[in-house]
Amino acid sequence: MNGISLMVEEHKYIKRMLNVIRKASYAVLKGSPINYDDFANMIDFVRSYADDHHHGKEEKMLFNRMMDEMGGAAEKLVRHGMLVEHDMGRLHMKELEEALLKVKEGDDEALIDVIANAVSYANLLYRHIDKEDSLVYPFAEKGLERGTLDKINEECDLFEKKREEQNVQKKYIELLESLEGKYMS
Ligand SMILES: [Fe+2]
Ligand SMILES: [Fe+2]
Repeated sequence: MNGISLMVEEHKYIKRMLNVIRKASYAVLKGSPINYDDFANMIDFVRSYADDHHHGKEEKMLFNRMMDEMGGAAEKLVRHGMLVEHDMGRLHMKELEEALLKVKEGDDEALIDVIANAVSYANLLYRHIDKEDSLVYPFAEKGLERGTLDKINEECDLFEKKREEQNVQKKYIELLESLEGKYMS
């Protein structure tokens, strides 16, 4: 398995969930009552699939190698760019969760924090993914040793098999499809 190609494929699923997140936020803006279960599922997708499953692979298999092997420019790009953006995404999800709780408890003004954090997350991740697809991944493919790329492919293979046994990929793709059915039609 080509690990980097797999990450590009995962971006497509993540971007589809970003579209759902924007649509659900727009419905809230237009006055629809918040569906707490749907928002909880969007947050679960972001944390378990986009962050743990996908960013986890980037951080533990790819970005670490880029910093070790490729020197200054790669280190700067990863440490001050991609990793910072992963963390900003985590903060938006935490604040989204807190805002949802506040609205549930009767704080109507917290609706703006629901929308602000959900939309900011989506916009952050669209840009982040575009940067990885067009710049960071091709840079890694050019700059890493062949042996390192082979190692990444092997590790990805093992990791994916383990996750398949736990039904992770299937579960979150099905969740995405069910939310698309609700929000994107
Ligand atoms: Fe990333
Ligand atoms: Fe990514």
